[in-house]
Amino acid sequence: MSIGIFTRNEKQSQKWLQKLRSNLPGIVVEVYPDISRPADVAFLVCWKPVTGLLDEFSNLKAIQSLGAGVDHILDHHNVPPHIQVSKVVDDNLTHDMWEHALTMIMADMKNLDIYATNQSNKMWNPKRYKRIKDVSVGILGLGTIGKYVASQFVSVGYDVSGWSRSEKDIAGVDTFTGEAGLSSVLAISDYVINILPLTPSTTGLIDKEFLSMMKEGSYLINIGRGAQVVDQDLIWSIENGPLRGAALDVFHNEPLPEENLFWNHTSIRITPHVASLTHIDSVYHQVVENYKLLISGKSINNRIDLKKGY
Ligand code: GLV
Repeated sequence: MSIGIFTRNEKQSQKWLQKLRSNLPGIVVEVYPDISRPADVAFLVCWKPVTGLLDEFSNLKAIQSLGAGVDHILDHHNVPPHIQVSKVVDDNLTHDMWEHALTMIMADMKNLDIYATNQSNKMWNPKRYKRIKDVSVGILGLGTIGKYVASQFVSVGYDVSGWSRSEKDIAGVDTFTGEAGLSSVLAISDYVINILPLTPSTTGLIDKEFLSMMKEGSYLINIGRGAQVVDQDLIWSIENGPLRGAALDVFHNEPLPEENLFWNHTSIRITPHVASLTHIDSVYHQVVENYKLLISGKSINNRIDLKKGY
């Protein structure tokens, strides 16, 4: 029952190799493609596995995503039901999502982009700013991360609503479900934060129809997945619809291709998928624990539902 590692970054793979080898003495841990006996690999620790990778391991029993999302695995592979798939659930990662969302909102509330442009023109031009108590935030996706983010926004005084597939009860948050619930959240929120998992039903969700339901002058923060946004509809909405701007951390293709229109759009802020980054020291113990659970024949922690896709 050996462990295979696959990431898109050699340095990252080597770090994981060292961490897992030193915490699981006697267990064979190897980085793809240098796997001596593929048929022995039972546990695959991975980020964005290349198409077909899973087929190389005929006795695979569990896949550990190195992030909070598992779409990078499920989108390109038909994972059979006997394989357990698990995501990372980490307080630091969850908290980082909140800090990022708050930063994007505060930067916009206090006009920082405008002052950055004005500064480059040596222009002194004070503007009215927004106050937290006057601002409403709508959060799409109320799983572990969304719930925490919603509560944090409540704790600093924002008016918060949230939308999710199943009903949720979060202190201080007006929660909604269903299509009518989505239009209610979009209609009342000055800032909409997308943290939904990528599934067939959320792919392309943020389209013209969705954007048209948003409040006049509202702002979108996407820290979910790029494939949930129809790019040309987003630009259309900023130019013709109710949307005033957007802060995007995730994209259909990453790195964002040079020719993408988002780069030069003055109302779009781009960050390079950094809302939260997995820190090995903070999460390796849950990967080690999952391997131990697997070899003792138990269900691994933070397992996702393959049917739901999250
Ligand atoms: C990052 O996007 C993650 O899924 O952890």
